[in-house]
Amino acid sequence: MGDCISSCATRISTAALRGSPPNRYTLFVSMATTRDNTPDRTHDRLVSAARADEEQGFELKLRPRRLGEFIGQSKAKEQLAIALEAARSRGEALDHVLLFGPPGLGKTTLATIIANELEVGFQQTSGPALQIQGDLTAILTNLRERQVLFLDEIHRLQPVLEEKLYTALEDYKLDIIIGQGPAARTHVMEIKPFTFVGATTRPGLLSSPLRSRFGILLRLEFYTEEELRVIVERSAEVLEIPVDLDGAAEIALRSRGTPRIANRLLRRVRDYAQVRGSGAIDRATANAALQLLEVDAHGFDEIDRRLLLTIIQKYDGGPVGLGTLAATLAEEEDALEEVYEPFLIQIGFLDRTPRGRMATRLAYEHFGIAAPGRQTGLF
Ligand SMILES: Nc1ncnc2c1ncn2[C@@H]1O[C@H](COP(=O)(O)OP(=O)(O)OP(=O)(O)O)[C@@H](O)[C@H]1O
Ligand SMILES: [Mg+2]
Repeated sequence: MGDCISSCATRISTAALRGSPPNRYTLFVSMATTRDNTPDRTHDRLVSAARADEEQGFELKLRPRRLGEFIGQSKAKEQLAIALEAARSRGEALDHVLLFGPPGLGKTTLATIIANELEVGFQQTSGPALQIQGDLTAILTNLRERQVLFLDEIHRLQPVLEEKLYTALEDYKLDIIIGQGPAARTHVMEIKPFTFVGATTRPGLLSSPLRSRFGILLRLEFYTEEELRVIVERSAEVLEIPVDLDGAAEIALRSRGTPRIANRLLRRVRDYAQVRGSGAIDRATANAALQLLEVDAHGFDEIDRRLLLTIIQKYDGGPVGLGTLAATLAEEEDALEEVYEPFLIQIGFLDRTPRGRMATRLAYEHFGIAAPGRQTGLF
């Protein structure tokens, strides 16, 4: 019986993977996402933490190059500074590093900083870009001594390639099979000691053997308003935009704890200041520009709003279980848990309780909805 259930489930899920005609569930999902995304697209893009393609050059310009220029993340920075110093003094390759945290917080930036601080080469690839074993073998065998190999979106690396990485990471060796059939021989190739830096927004999807290969685990947290203000000021200086303290603070406040959003808003506010204002950014200019751009007081994106409003309107403020919430929003559970919820919890809009997620009074106030009187102390 149990076997039947699991094999049926496997059959259904493999059929879905193979791209069979959309069933009722997928149709529902696509309708739901189309309906919810359409009205807000421009606004959503402005405060989305994901990188837009045209931003690449701009981001490169603003990216800190040394650990000293990297603002905030004091815990991760301290951990890294010690490891860098130790590796440098021993003249060895730095231990492998896993960087994880929501998008736009500085994972790629830190990976490049590691190479700069060690004054070694830097090579970058990503989980989805690596498709065949030959590519990975070529990259690994061409590594130079102690250089940094950065693999972005490591949670999307194919399992066969992941297994190939294990021995490379552990013993700097690579098993290569030469020939086919009975004539096949394995050959062990030595590779140069190197530092592997993996980055992911979804650490929960990593297998434990892969995770255990990393000696240094760095979790990036959302930035405080003060840290974001300093980031805005630094970026303004690089871009030669005059901004005062209040103007920078106003942008920081609406950046959703994320430097990528802070830099994007700064750019848009600069446009406004040049066209409608004096060219300089003060609080009034920043405020007017952000209002025009419809960035709300906390810089919420579409999914933040949808998540909170679903709990408030469909589940009376909660508690609602993670699985139910994920199904209602057509998002994956771990994405909700690792990417979207942390910021809402940090600013006190969402509570994780043993019985499920709850919207707080602050969340009700933000949307201008009257909070129901909670029945407390009855028993
Ligand atoms: N601590 C920081 N100080 C100053 N600027 C920062 C900091 N962290 C990030 N930034 C800026 O934010 C931008 C986005 O950072 P980055 O690309 O490193 O994020 P990420 O975590 O790799 O995002 P993703 O998950 O989307 O790959 C960078 O261009 C950089 O200018
Ligand atoms: Mg990145």
